[in-house]
Amino acid sequence: MAINNYDRQSFGRKVNEVVSPSHPVLSLEHLKGREQQLKRIQQALFATGRNVFIYGERGVGKSSLAATAANDWCGEHGCYIDISCAPDTTVLSMIATIATQAISKSRLKRKKIKNTLQLGYKWFSFKRESEIENINFNNEIKNLSDGIETLKELSEFFDDALVVVVDEVDRISDVEEIEKFADFLKQLGDKRVEVKFIFTGIAHTLDEILGSHRSAIRQLETIELKKLSWDARWEIAIGALKAFGIDIHRDIYVRIALISDGYPYYVHLIIEKLLWILFERPGQVSKVEWDDYHLAIEHAIDTTSAELSRPYEKAINQRSQDYEEVVWATIVAEDNIGVYTKNMYEQYLGIMKQCGDKEVLDLKKFSARIRNLLKDDYGPILFNGLKKGQYVYKEKMLRGYVRLRAEQQNIELVISAKEIDDLKNKTQAAARSDKAYFSHPPQRGYRR
Ligand SMILES: Nc1ncnc2c1ncn2[C@@H]1O[C@H](COP(=O)(O)OP(=O)(O)OP(=O)(O)O)[C@@H](O)[C@H]1O
Ligand SMILES: [Mg+2]
Repeated sequence: MAINNYDRQSFGRKVNEVVSPSHPVLSLEHLKGREQQLKRIQQALFATGRNVFIYGERGVGKSSLAATAANDWCGEHGCYIDISCAPDTTVLSMIATIATQAISKSRLKRKKIKNTLQLGYKWFSFKRESEIENINFNNEIKNLSDGIETLKELSEFFDDALVVVVDEVDRISDVEEIEKFADFLKQLGDKRVEVKFIFTGIAHTLDEILGSHRSAIRQLETIELKKLSWDARWEIAIGALKAFGIDIHRDIYVRIALISDGYPYYVHLIIEKLLWILFERPGQVSKVEWDDYHLAIEHAIDTTSAELSRPYEKAINQRSQDYEEVVWATIVAEDNIGVYTKNMYEQYLGIMKQCGDKEVLDLKKFSARIRNLLKDDYGPILFNGLKKGQYVYKEKMLRGYVRLRAEQQNIELVISAKEIDDLKNKTQAAARSDKAYFSHPPQRGYRR
Protein backbone atom coordinates (compact mmCIF):
# COMPACT_ATOMS: atom_id res chain seq x y z
CA MET A 1 0.00 0.00 0.00
CA ALA A 2 1.29 3.50 -0.83
CA ILE A 3 2.37 5.62 2.09
CA ASN A 4 -0.40 8.20 1.55
CA ASN A 5 -3.09 5.59 1.98
CA TYR A 6 -2.24 4.63 5.55
CA ASP A 7 -4.00 6.02 8.59
CA ARG A 8 -1.66 6.99 11.42
CA GLN A 9 -2.31 3.89 13.52
CA SER A 10 -1.70 1.33 10.83
CA PHE A 11 1.26 3.32 9.51
CA GLY A 12 2.92 3.32 12.93
CA ARG A 13 2.42 -0.41 13.27
CA LYS A 14 3.86 -1.08 9.84
CA VAL A 15 6.90 1.15 10.53
CA ASN A 16 7.55 -0.87 13.65
CA GLU A 17 7.49 -4.03 11.55
CA VAL A 18 10.03 -2.89 8.98
CA VAL A 19 12.51 -1.06 11.20
CA SER A 20 13.65 -1.93 14.69
CA PRO A 21 16.05 0.64 16.18
CA SER A 22 15.06 -0.37 19.72
CA HIS A 23 14.99 -4.14 19.61
CA PRO A 24 16.86 -7.01 18.00
CA VAL A 25 15.79 -8.44 14.68
CA LEU A 26 14.00 -11.78 15.11
CA SER A 27 13.34 -12.99 11.57
CA LEU A 28 15.34 -14.09 8.55
CA GLU A 29 13.45 -11.56 6.45
CA HIS A 30 14.84 -8.63 8.39
CA LEU A 31 18.29 -9.91 9.26
CA LYS A 32 20.61 -8.56 6.57
CA GLY A 33 24.14 -9.54 5.67
CA ARG A 34 24.57 -12.44 8.11
CA GLU A 35 23.93 -15.39 5.79
CA GLN A 36 27.34 -16.99 6.31
CA GLN A 37 27.12 -16.73 10.08
CA LEU A 38 23.59 -18.19 10.06
CA LYS A 39 24.82 -21.19 8.10
CA ARG A 40 27.62 -21.80 10.57
CA ILE A 41 25.22 -21.60 13.50
CA GLN A 42 22.85 -24.01 11.85
CA GLN A 43 25.62 -26.54 11.25
CA ALA A 44 26.72 -26.22 14.87
CA LEU A 45 23.16 -26.80 16.06
CA PHE A 46 23.14 -30.14 14.24
CA ALA A 47 26.39 -31.28 15.84
CA THR A 48 26.00 -33.05 19.18
CA GLY A 49 27.98 -31.35 21.91
CA ARG A 50 28.73 -28.20 19.95
CA ASN A 51 27.47 -24.81 21.07
CA VAL A 52 27.79 -21.32 19.68
CA PHE A 53 29.41 -18.16 20.99
CA ILE A 54 28.74 -14.95 19.06
CA TYR A 55 31.05 -12.13 19.94
CA GLY A 56 31.62 -8.60 18.74
CA GLU A 57 31.37 -4.93 19.59
CA ARG A 58 28.34 -3.47 21.24
CA GLY A 59 25.49 -2.82 18.81
CA VAL A 60 26.95 -4.83 15.97
CA GLY A 61 24.00 -7.25 15.92
CA LYS A 62 24.84 -10.16 18.26
CA SER A 63 21.42 -10.50 19.88
CA SER A 64 19.72 -10.22 16.48
CA LEU A 65 21.80 -13.01 14.99
CA ALA A 66 21.30 -15.24 18.03
CA ALA A 67 17.54 -14.67 18.18
CA THR A 68 17.03 -15.12 14.45
CA ALA A 69 19.10 -18.31 14.36
CA ALA A 70 17.20 -19.74 17.34
CA ASN A 71 13.83 -18.76 15.90
CA ASP A 72 14.69 -20.25 12.55
CA TRP A 73 15.87 -23.48 14.13
CA CYS A 74 12.81 -23.90 16.28
CA GLY A 75 10.29 -23.02 13.60
CA GLU A 76 6.82 -23.25 14.98
CA HIS A 77 7.75 -25.75 17.69
CA GLY A 78 8.52 -22.90 20.05
CA CYS A 79 11.40 -24.64 21.77
CA TYR A 80 13.48 -21.50 22.09
CA ILE A 81 14.39 -20.05 25.45
CA ASP A 82 15.95 -16.64 25.88
CA ILE A 83 17.93 -15.58 28.91
CA SER A 84 19.56 -12.21 29.54
CA CYS A 85 22.50 -12.29 31.90
CA ALA A 86 22.77 -9.94 34.87
CA PRO A 87 25.81 -9.16 37.01
CA ASP A 88 24.81 -11.86 39.53
CA THR A 89 23.98 -14.62 37.03
CA THR A 90 25.73 -17.93 37.74
CA VAL A 91 25.87 -21.13 35.73
CA LEU A 92 23.49 -22.74 38.22
CA SER A 93 21.03 -19.83 38.30
CA MET A 94 21.06 -19.87 34.50
CA ILE A 95 20.14 -23.56 34.46
CA ALA A 96 17.39 -22.94 37.02
CA THR A 97 15.92 -20.18 34.83
CA ILE A 98 16.06 -22.44 31.78
CA ALA A 99 14.24 -25.21 33.66
CA THR A 100 11.54 -22.86 34.91
CA GLN A 101 11.00 -21.38 31.45
CA ALA A 102 10.95 -24.79 29.81
CA ILE A 103 8.37 -26.08 32.28
CA SER A 104 6.11 -23.17 31.51
CA LYS A 105 6.11 -24.01 27.81
CA SER A 106 2.63 -25.27 27.23
CA ARG A 107 3.69 -28.11 24.95
CA LEU A 108 5.73 -29.59 27.72
CA LYS A 109 2.96 -29.25 30.25
CA ARG A 110 0.15 -30.70 28.25
CA LYS A 111 1.77 -33.49 26.33
CA LYS A 112 4.56 -35.04 28.20
CA ILE A 113 4.49 -34.65 31.91
CA LYS A 114 2.00 -37.41 32.52
CA ASN A 115 4.22 -39.87 30.67
CA THR A 116 7.12 -39.16 32.94
CA LEU A 117 5.48 -40.94 35.85
CA GLN A 118 6.80 -44.28 34.66
CA LEU A 119 10.28 -43.07 33.76
CA GLY A 120 13.24 -42.91 36.06
CA TYR A 121 13.81 -39.18 36.09
CA LYS A 122 15.42 -37.55 39.00
CA TRP A 123 13.28 -34.41 38.94
CA PHE A 124 10.11 -35.38 37.26
CA SER A 125 9.50 -39.09 37.90
CA PHE A 126 7.49 -39.00 41.08
CA LYS A 127 5.97 -35.58 40.86
CA ARG A 128 2.51 -34.61 39.77
CA GLU A 129 2.03 -31.98 37.09
CA SER A 130 1.17 -29.28 39.60
CA GLU A 131 4.21 -30.15 41.71
CA ILE A 132 6.51 -29.97 38.75
CA GLU A 133 5.30 -26.49 37.97
CA ASN A 134 6.16 -25.45 41.48
CA ILE A 135 9.65 -26.85 41.67
CA ASN A 136 12.00 -24.11 42.76
CA PHE A 137 15.00 -25.06 40.67
CA ASN A 138 17.15 -22.48 42.39
CA ASN A 139 16.87 -24.55 45.56
CA GLU A 140 17.04 -27.93 43.87
CA ILE A 141 20.10 -27.48 41.70
CA LYS A 142 22.99 -27.55 44.14
CA ASN A 143 25.90 -28.36 41.88
CA LEU A 144 26.87 -28.70 38.25
CA SER A 145 25.98 -32.36 37.98
CA ASP A 146 22.44 -31.61 39.26
CA GLY A 147 22.25 -28.92 36.62
CA ILE A 148 23.43 -31.15 33.79
CA GLU A 149 20.98 -33.86 34.89
CA THR A 150 18.12 -31.37 34.87
CA LEU A 151 18.95 -30.20 31.36
CA LYS A 152 19.25 -33.75 30.12
CA GLU A 153 15.83 -34.63 31.46
CA LEU A 154 14.30 -31.45 30.10
CA SER A 155 15.74 -32.04 26.66
CA GLU A 156 13.95 -35.34 26.44
CA PHE A 157 10.62 -33.55 26.50
CA PHE A 158 11.39 -31.84 23.23
CA ASP A 159 11.28 -33.45 19.80
CA ASP A 160 14.04 -31.22 18.44
CA ALA A 161 17.03 -29.97 20.33
CA LEU A 162 16.02 -27.33 22.82
CA VAL A 163 17.78 -24.07 21.97
CA VAL A 164 18.75 -21.58 24.64
CA VAL A 165 20.04 -18.10 23.86
CA VAL A 166 22.14 -16.74 26.71
CA ASP A 167 22.53 -13.07 25.91
CA GLU A 168 25.30 -10.79 27.18
CA VAL A 169 27.46 -13.21 29.13
CA ASP A 170 29.87 -10.29 29.58
CA ARG A 171 27.45 -8.71 32.06
CA ILE A 172 28.31 -11.40 34.63
CA SER A 173 30.61 -9.57 37.00
CA ASP A 174 32.38 -12.50 38.63
CA VAL A 175 35.18 -13.73 36.34
CA GLU A 176 35.37 -17.03 38.22
CA GLU A 177 31.73 -17.61 37.40
CA ILE A 178 32.36 -16.92 33.71
CA GLU A 179 35.20 -19.44 33.81
CA LYS A 180 32.76 -22.07 35.09
CA PHE A 181 31.03 -21.96 31.71
CA ALA A 182 33.98 -23.91 30.31
CA ASP A 183 33.29 -26.84 32.64
CA PHE A 184 29.63 -26.56 31.93
CA LEU A 185 30.20 -26.79 28.17
CA LYS A 186 32.55 -29.73 28.59
CA GLN A 187 29.97 -31.65 30.60
CA LEU A 188 27.16 -30.86 28.17
CA GLY A 189 29.24 -32.56 25.48
CA ASP A 190 30.46 -35.46 27.60
CA LYS A 191 26.96 -36.29 28.81
CA ARG A 192 25.49 -35.78 25.34
CA VAL A 193 22.88 -33.35 26.55
CA GLU A 194 20.66 -32.31 23.64
CA VAL A 195 20.27 -28.70 24.70
CA LYS A 196 21.95 -26.24 22.36
CA PHE A 197 23.35 -22.98 23.62
CA ILE A 198 23.91 -19.77 21.72
CA PHE A 199 25.87 -17.35 23.87
CA THR A 200 26.57 -13.72 23.05
CA GLY A 201 29.18 -11.49 24.56
CA ILE A 202 32.30 -9.55 23.92
CA ALA A 203 35.61 -11.11 22.88
CA HIS A 204 37.04 -10.65 26.34
CA THR A 205 34.42 -12.98 27.88
CA LEU A 206 35.22 -15.63 25.34
CA ASP A 207 38.90 -15.48 26.28
CA GLU A 208 37.92 -15.98 29.91
CA ILE A 209 35.88 -19.06 29.06
CA LEU A 210 38.40 -20.59 26.71
CA GLY A 211 41.36 -19.62 28.82
CA SER A 212 40.15 -21.71 31.71
CA HIS A 213 39.53 -24.94 29.83
CA ARG A 214 41.31 -25.50 26.56
CA SER A 215 39.19 -28.45 25.52
CA ALA A 216 36.13 -26.18 25.66
CA ILE A 217 37.34 -24.87 22.32
CA ARG A 218 36.06 -28.01 20.64
CA GLN A 219 32.69 -27.45 22.22
CA LEU A 220 32.29 -23.94 20.86
CA GLU A 221 31.62 -22.59 17.41
CA THR A 222 32.95 -19.08 17.84
CA ILE A 223 31.53 -16.46 15.52
CA GLU A 224 33.04 -13.02 15.39
CA LEU A 225 30.59 -10.41 14.18
CA LYS A 226 32.07 -7.47 12.37
CA LYS A 227 30.40 -4.27 11.35
CA LEU A 228 27.63 -4.73 8.81
CA SER A 229 28.75 -4.68 5.15
CA TRP A 230 27.83 -1.77 2.90
CA ASP A 231 25.19 -3.64 0.94
CA ALA A 232 23.57 -5.12 4.06
CA ARG A 233 23.35 -1.59 5.49
CA TRP A 234 21.49 -0.24 2.51
CA GLU A 235 19.36 -3.35 2.12
CA ILE A 236 17.79 -2.42 5.47
CA ALA A 237 17.02 1.04 4.09
CA ILE A 238 15.82 0.00 0.64
CA GLY A 239 13.73 -2.89 1.99
CA ALA A 240 11.95 -0.77 4.59
CA LEU A 241 11.12 1.99 2.09
CA LYS A 242 10.00 -0.52 -0.51
CA ALA A 243 7.40 -1.84 1.91
CA PHE A 244 5.70 1.57 1.38
CA GLY A 245 6.40 1.79 -2.35
CA ILE A 246 9.08 4.48 -1.85
CA ASP A 247 12.19 4.76 -4.02
CA ILE A 248 15.48 6.08 -2.75
CA HIS A 249 18.37 7.32 -4.87
CA ARG A 250 21.64 5.45 -4.58
CA ASP A 251 23.50 8.54 -3.35
CA ILE A 252 21.13 8.87 -0.42
CA TYR A 253 21.13 5.25 0.66
CA VAL A 254 24.90 5.04 0.39
CA ARG A 255 25.08 8.20 2.50
CA ILE A 256 22.91 6.56 5.18
CA ALA A 257 25.10 3.44 5.04
CA LEU A 258 28.16 5.61 5.50
CA ILE A 259 26.78 7.58 8.44
CA SER A 260 25.87 4.35 10.26
CA ASP A 261 29.53 3.35 10.27
CA GLY A 262 28.35 -0.27 10.00
CA TYR A 263 26.13 -0.17 13.12
CA PRO A 264 22.63 -1.13 11.95
CA TYR A 265 20.97 0.80 14.78
CA TYR A 266 21.60 4.09 12.95
CA VAL A 267 20.19 2.83 9.66
CA HIS A 268 17.01 1.73 11.43
CA LEU A 269 16.79 5.03 13.28
CA ILE A 270 17.31 7.25 10.22
CA ILE A 271 14.83 5.22 8.15
CA GLU A 272 12.24 5.31 10.92
CA LYS A 273 12.52 9.11 10.99
CA LEU A 274 12.50 9.30 7.21
CA LEU A 275 9.32 7.24 6.98
CA TRP A 276 7.48 9.52 9.39
CA ILE A 277 8.69 12.60 7.50
CA LEU A 278 7.39 11.12 4.25
CA PHE A 279 4.11 10.21 5.95
CA GLU A 280 3.64 13.84 7.02
CA ARG A 281 4.65 15.24 3.61
CA PRO A 282 1.55 16.44 1.72
CA GLY A 283 0.73 15.14 -1.74
CA GLN A 284 1.71 11.90 -3.44
CA VAL A 285 5.04 10.63 -2.16
CA SER A 286 6.99 8.10 -4.20
CA LYS A 287 10.65 8.92 -3.54
CA VAL A 288 13.01 10.29 -0.92
CA GLU A 289 14.34 13.83 -1.54
CA TRP A 290 17.58 15.18 -0.10
CA ASP A 291 15.56 17.57 2.10
CA ASP A 292 13.74 14.60 3.63
CA TYR A 293 17.08 12.93 4.27
CA HIS A 294 18.59 15.97 6.01
CA LEU A 295 15.51 16.39 8.16
CA ALA A 296 15.68 12.69 9.08
CA ILE A 297 19.30 13.21 10.21
CA GLU A 298 18.13 16.02 12.53
CA HIS A 299 15.34 13.90 13.96
CA ALA A 300 17.62 10.88 14.36
CA ILE A 301 20.04 12.99 16.40
CA ASP A 302 17.20 14.09 18.69
CA THR A 303 16.13 10.48 19.26
CA THR A 304 19.55 8.82 19.57
CA SER A 305 19.64 7.08 22.91
CA ALA A 306 21.11 9.29 25.62
CA GLU A 307 23.58 6.59 26.45
CA LEU A 308 25.21 7.13 23.07
CA SER A 309 24.89 10.89 22.80
CA ARG A 310 26.00 11.71 26.35
CA PRO A 311 29.74 11.15 25.88
CA TYR A 312 29.63 13.36 22.79
CA GLU A 313 27.77 16.12 24.62
CA LYS A 314 30.16 15.93 27.55
CA ALA A 315 33.15 16.19 25.23
CA ILE A 316 31.96 19.22 23.28
CA ASN A 317 30.37 21.19 26.11
CA GLN A 318 33.60 22.70 27.39
CA ARG A 319 34.54 26.24 28.17
CA SER A 320 36.59 26.50 25.00
CA GLN A 321 34.25 26.12 22.05
CA ASP A 322 36.62 24.16 19.87
CA TYR A 323 36.13 20.55 20.93
CA GLU A 324 33.53 19.47 18.42
CA GLU A 325 35.93 19.64 15.45
CA VAL A 326 38.50 17.75 17.54
CA VAL A 327 35.94 15.01 18.22
CA TRP A 328 35.11 14.81 14.52
CA ALA A 329 38.82 14.37 13.80
CA THR A 330 38.92 11.27 16.04
CA ILE A 331 36.88 9.40 13.42
CA VAL A 332 40.14 8.24 11.80
CA ALA A 333 40.64 5.90 14.77
CA GLU A 334 39.31 2.85 12.92
CA ASP A 335 38.06 -0.11 14.96
CA ASN A 336 40.76 -1.64 17.08
CA ILE A 337 43.65 -0.22 15.12
CA GLY A 338 45.09 2.57 17.17
CA VAL A 339 45.73 5.96 15.66
CA TYR A 340 48.34 8.59 16.47
CA THR A 341 47.56 12.22 17.23
CA LYS A 342 49.29 13.34 14.05
CA ASN A 343 46.84 11.31 11.92
CA MET A 344 43.91 12.86 13.72
CA TYR A 345 45.47 16.29 13.28
CA GLU A 346 45.62 15.82 9.50
CA GLN A 347 41.93 15.01 9.52
CA TYR A 348 41.33 18.00 11.78
CA LEU A 349 42.97 20.36 9.28
CA GLY A 350 40.73 18.91 6.55
CA ILE A 351 37.69 19.52 8.73
CA MET A 352 38.72 23.08 9.58
CA LYS A 353 38.91 23.91 5.85
CA GLN A 354 35.17 23.16 5.79
CA CYS A 355 34.48 25.33 8.84
CA GLY A 356 34.91 28.78 7.33
CA ASP A 357 37.04 31.21 9.32
CA LYS A 358 36.99 29.42 12.66
CA GLU A 359 40.36 29.60 14.45
CA VAL A 360 42.55 26.53 13.83
CA LEU A 361 44.27 24.95 16.85
CA ASP A 362 47.99 24.28 16.59
CA LEU A 363 49.25 20.71 17.04
CA LYS A 364 50.18 21.28 20.70
CA LYS A 365 46.73 22.54 21.70
CA PHE A 366 45.10 19.86 19.57
CA SER A 367 47.13 17.12 21.30
CA ALA A 368 46.14 18.44 24.74
CA ARG A 369 42.48 18.24 23.75
CA ILE A 370 42.91 14.71 22.42
CA ARG A 371 44.43 13.66 25.74
CA ASN A 372 41.46 15.22 27.52
CA LEU A 373 39.10 13.02 25.50
CA LEU A 374 40.38 10.09 27.58
CA LYS A 375 38.88 11.60 30.73
CA ASP A 376 35.44 10.95 32.15
CA ASP A 377 34.54 14.64 32.05
CA TYR A 378 35.18 14.65 28.32
CA GLY A 379 33.14 11.59 27.34
CA PRO A 380 35.32 9.63 27.49
CA ILE A 381 35.56 9.31 23.75
CA LEU A 382 38.95 7.63 23.49
CA PHE A 383 41.01 4.93 25.10
CA ASN A 384 44.76 4.36 25.04
CA GLY A 385 45.67 1.99 22.20
CA LEU A 386 48.07 -0.91 22.45
CA LYS A 387 51.09 1.12 21.45
CA LYS A 388 52.23 4.19 23.30
CA GLY A 389 50.76 7.36 21.85
CA GLN A 390 47.99 5.52 20.04
CA TYR A 391 44.30 5.99 20.63
CA VAL A 392 41.21 3.90 19.95
CA TYR A 393 37.49 4.57 20.35
CA LYS A 394 36.18 3.63 23.77
CA GLU A 395 32.67 2.88 22.55
CA LYS A 396 32.95 1.94 18.88
CA MET A 397 29.27 2.51 18.25
CA LEU A 398 29.70 6.18 19.14
CA ARG A 399 31.41 6.61 15.77
CA GLY A 400 27.99 6.49 14.11
CA TYR A 401 26.78 9.32 16.32
CA VAL A 402 29.88 11.39 15.57
CA ARG A 403 29.17 10.94 11.87
CA LEU A 404 25.53 11.91 12.36
CA ARG A 405 26.50 15.15 14.09
CA ALA A 406 29.08 16.02 11.44
CA GLU A 407 26.53 15.29 8.71
CA GLN A 408 24.03 17.59 10.40
CA GLN A 409 26.56 20.39 10.10
CA ASN A 410 27.50 19.52 6.53
CA ILE A 411 31.00 18.34 7.36
CA GLU A 412 32.47 15.58 5.26
CA LEU A 413 34.42 13.05 7.36
CA VAL A 414 36.86 10.56 5.88
CA ILE A 415 36.25 6.85 5.58
CA SER A 416 39.10 4.36 5.68
CA ALA A 417 40.83 3.19 2.51
CA LYS A 418 39.52 -0.33 3.07
CA GLU A 419 35.94 0.88 3.43
CA ILE A 420 36.32 2.94 0.24
CA ASP A 421 37.52 -0.14 -1.63
CA ASP A 422 34.61 -2.20 -0.33
CA LEU A 423 32.21 0.57 -1.24
CA LYS A 424 33.64 0.89 -4.75
CA ASN A 425 33.12 -2.82 -5.35
CA LYS A 426 29.62 -2.77 -3.95
CA THR A 427 28.37 0.39 -5.68
CA GLN A 428 29.68 -0.74 -9.04
CA ALA A 429 27.95 -4.05 -8.66
CA ALA A 430 24.74 -2.56 -7.36
CA ALA A 431 24.41 0.36 -9.72
CA ARG A 432 26.35 -0.94 -12.75
CA SER A 433 28.07 2.39 -12.87
CA ASP A 434 31.73 3.22 -12.75
CA LYS A 435 31.04 6.33 -10.69
CA ALA A 436 31.46 5.43 -7.07
CA TYR A 437 29.28 7.32 -4.69
CA PHE A 438 31.87 9.40 -2.96
CA SER A 439 32.56 11.45 -6.08
CA HIS A 440 29.01 12.79 -5.69
CA PRO A 441 28.66 14.12 -2.17
CA PRO A 442 25.31 15.75 -1.44
CA GLN A 443 25.38 19.35 -2.59
CA ARG A 444 25.47 22.19 -0.14
CA GLY A 445 22.23 24.09 -0.12
CA TYR A 446 20.11 21.00 0.16
CA ARG A 447 19.85 21.65 3.82
CA ARG A 448 16.84 23.28 5.42
N1 LIG B 1 21.83 -8.14 10.48
C1 LIG B 1 21.00 -7.13 10.78
N2 LIG B 1 20.14 -6.64 9.85
C2 LIG B 1 19.31 -5.64 10.17
N3 LIG B 1 19.27 -5.05 11.36
C3 LIG B 1 20.09 -5.49 12.33
C4 LIG B 1 20.99 -6.55 12.08
N4 LIG B 1 21.69 -6.79 13.21
C5 LIG B 1 21.23 -5.91 14.12
N5 LIG B 1 20.27 -5.12 13.62
C6 LIG B 1 19.63 -4.01 14.33
O1 LIG B 1 20.71 -3.31 14.97
C7 LIG B 1 20.40 -2.94 16.30
C8 LIG B 1 21.39 -3.58 17.27
O2 LIG B 1 21.25 -4.97 17.17
P1 LIG B 1 21.47 -5.97 18.39
O3 LIG B 1 20.69 -5.51 19.57
O4 LIG B 1 21.22 -7.32 17.86
O5 LIG B 1 23.03 -5.74 18.63
P2 LIG B 1 23.92 -6.27 19.83
O6 LIG B 1 25.27 -6.54 19.27
O7 LIG B 1 23.24 -7.39 20.53
O8 LIG B 1 23.96 -4.99 20.75
P3 LIG B 1 24.33 -4.91 22.31
O9 LIG B 1 25.79 -5.17 22.37
O10 LIG B 1 23.97 -3.50 22.67
O11 LIG B 1 23.53 -5.94 23.03
C9 LIG B 1 18.96 -3.34 16.50
O12 LIG B 1 18.21 -2.19 16.21
C10 LIG B 1 18.69 -4.40 15.45
O13 LIG B 1 17.35 -4.35 15.06
MG1 LIG C 1 22.58 -7.57 22.50
